[in-house]
Amino acid sequence: MNISKKMQDAFNAQITAELYSSNLYLQMAFWFRKEGWKGFADWMFKHSDEEKHHALEMANFVLDRGGEALVAAIDAPEVDFKDPKEIFERTLKHEQWVTEKINELADVADELKDRASINFVDKFIDEQVEEEKTVRDILNLFRHRDGHTVATIDDIVGAQE
Ligand code: FEO
Repeated sequence: MNISKKMQDAFNAQITAELYSSNLYLQMAFWFRKEGWKGFADWMFKHSDEEKHHALEMANFVLDRGGEALVAAIDAPEVDFKDPKEIFERTLKHEQWVTEKINELADVADELKDRASINFVDKFIDEQVEEEKTVRDILNLFRHRDGHTVATIDDIVGAQE
């Protein structure tokens, strides 16, 4: 059965949100590089790639089900960053926003009783739990410090997969 127009549109809206996320993290990576925070920059570059990958996975799912995947206009990301800790606070807020969007996507799949989409979106629900946790762990490094300087946090974060 082909994907319904309503489900397809909901996925396309999420693809736009994922691409926006990818650009936001790319912009953050550029800022980190400019300021000489190599580890944070590497982490953000990787995270930006992951978001693009999420968009592609969703597009492939829509296409595999006979739908149309669209790249809509993507808003320019924010650029007024202050310091590393503030950037990770914004990242957590942003991921929480993405979680809400994914939950809305799951609601559409539930409403349409679209089993394949329910199954597909489930994996992204799990992914959001993991993504929020990863950023929260980084923020805890800033909060507790435990003798860490921002430079050691930069090394720790840069070494993360
Ligand atoms: Fe694709 Fe970080 O959410």
